[in-house]
Amino acid sequence: MTLSLAAVAVQAQQQPLAPTGRWAHQPVGSAPTPPMGWSSWNAFHMDLTEQRVIDSAQVIVDSGLAAAGYRNINVDDGWWLQRRLADGRLQVRTKLFPTAATGGAAGTSLRPFTDKIHAMGLKAGLYSDIGRNACSQAYNTDSPNLPEGTQAEREVGLMGFTERDIALFFGDWNFDFLKVDGCGLSSYGKDRLPVTSGRFREYGPTVVEGNANQSDVEGARALYARVAQSLRAVRPQGDYVLSVCLWGAANVRSWGAEVGTMWRTSRDIAPRFSQMLHNFDTVATRELYAGPGRWNDPDMLEIGNGDFDGDHLLEARTHLSLWAIVAAPLMIGTDLAKASPALIDLLKAPEVLAINQDAAGHQGVIAYADSDREILVKTLADGRKAVLLFNRGEQPAKLTLTAEHLKMDVKSPIVLRDAWARADAGSFTGSREFTLQPRETLLFTATGTHMLPRGYFVSERPGQVFVARDGIRALEADPVVYRSLPSWARTDSGGTRPAYAGWGAPRADATPYDQTLSVRRQVFRHGIGALADSRLQVQLPAGSQRLVAQVGVDDSTRGRGRVRFEVWGDGRRLAATPPMAFNEPARELVADLRGVRLVELVAREQGAGATGPVVVTWGAARIE
Ligand code: GLA
Repeated sequence: MTLSLAAVAVQAQQQPLAPTGRWAHQPVGSAPTPPMGWSSWNAFHMDLTEQRVIDSAQVIVDSGLAAAGYRNINVDDGWWLQRRLADGRLQVRTKLFPTAATGGAAGTSLRPFTDKIHAMGLKAGLYSDIGRNACSQAYNTDSPNLPEGTQAEREVGLMGFTERDIALFFGDWNFDFLKVDGCGLSSYGKDRLPVTSGRFREYGPTVVEGNANQSDVEGARALYARVAQSLRAVRPQGDYVLSVCLWGAANVRSWGAEVGTMWRTSRDIAPRFSQMLHNFDTVATRELYAGPGRWNDPDMLEIGNGDFDGDHLLEARTHLSLWAIVAAPLMIGTDLAKASPALIDLLKAPEVLAINQDAAGHQGVIAYADSDREILVKTLADGRKAVLLFNRGEQPAKLTLTAEHLKMDVKSPIVLRDAWARADAGSFTGSREFTLQPRETLLFTATGTHMLPRGYFVSERPGQVFVARDGIRALEADPVVYRSLPSWARTDSGGTRPAYAGWGAPRADATPYDQTLSVRRQVFRHGIGALADSRLQVQLPAGSQRLVAQVGVDDSTRGRGRVRFEVWGDGRRLAATPPMAFNEPARELVADLRGVRLVELVAREQGAGATGPVVVTWGAARIE
């Protein structure tokens, strides 16, 4: 049975576990691989000028960075002067953007700017806020470049003007990329300084950073959905990127793909190694949420700045390697007019960028992690693996890479190629040990024989999975995030407690609470971990024959309810287990996939009364 799109939406709401037989992700805009480019914010903050943007754009063209893929030139916060009340049309600060002084009925226009960027063979991006006011108006109060005029004229955000502003940005002004920030929902509550000072109108807060329960998750989602809808109307061909900037708040890590092309998973990056680790960690456990057309965003690059400047090329390489392995958008955030040739070369590293831009769009999966050492593996479109070894610590560390990390045969040779050196790095059988300097990463591609005689593990291809239902009943913050010190957090404050909802979401090769998959002490190094009452969609390559998995309630379960495992293919039930309880041995589920394009894995809790979330394991789930 095939349902219409509208019927699918209704069914998904009423019966979230009912398989629809239709891939539920509808892309917002178009980004088959992670967006790349440059943004003004980390480089200039509020000291943005048209000339500075054009200068960096010129370097992007002249240095070959554009040819390497960095094509979006994004103007961040700071471009606006005010909203013209007569017709709601936004006006540009022409002191910063002289070519915007076009005069006439429009007053000002960014069209000359985008024309220039387009003439350079590049794409143009702009910044707005989902609320009435922007972040700079709350946090950069000393800047001379804040919107001016009456309170209403200073309301430059999308709220109340969504369709009009989107038509202006993407119609009249011809932008290709829009970043929509969220301070208008979080920073203008009645007790906040911008409001108590009498300068801004009170709003919300609908989003409380660090407190998803106190956030109006549905409200925030609906506002962003409206932006996505307006964009679809203005640009029906879908040739744009919508970047959702809600800093991992309001559970956006779980719904970002429904309303954006990419979505921020954490607070702002800073040019400090520890902050970079924090941002990285907020995407590293979200491998099942990214894929072609939908990207977790750990924020713009700091390469060229602070801990990642020209005197710290090791750290700069690590930063790019990490963003590459998790298929993160790559937005350069430095003043390229001042960047050394070594930094520009580093940003161009062709084999590193090829890993990031691989057509299959799989995010790297954590194969090993302790507090100091990490190994991530990313399946590439041609079947090779990219593998990253990372020493997060402050001492030299030994890391042993195994065939099992790569899901390759232990007895066959594995050939490594160093993505930075662009040189062969020898081969090994079984395992190989490396010593890494503090903060160092090694990034290889690996070629070998798959450990399975046929097919692949579902967890190797996370970009083909869509989490239609995560089974989470109560929002919890993800504790597996490095608690770096943000510049504003003093030890007499509440500290840096974990703040990003999404804990309990399905994972590749781990349980939803980051434990080893295990059913009645049978350990599964490969598989999918989830909570009961979840539904995962899996796209299949043509010619798939069968799905095999060893399923059961995981040993780490919190609740003790019974769970039925079901495999559906194109909306038909193909296989199911009887209800299974904690400590029952794993059962083998086999489903005939001939002719099937979409599999849905459903774990359904039976009856009520479980004391907590039931953790389930699709052990060694594989497609043959
Ligand atoms: C927020 C965003 C940043 C940047 C600033 C601009 O902090 O997260 O990326 O856009 O606003 O004010």
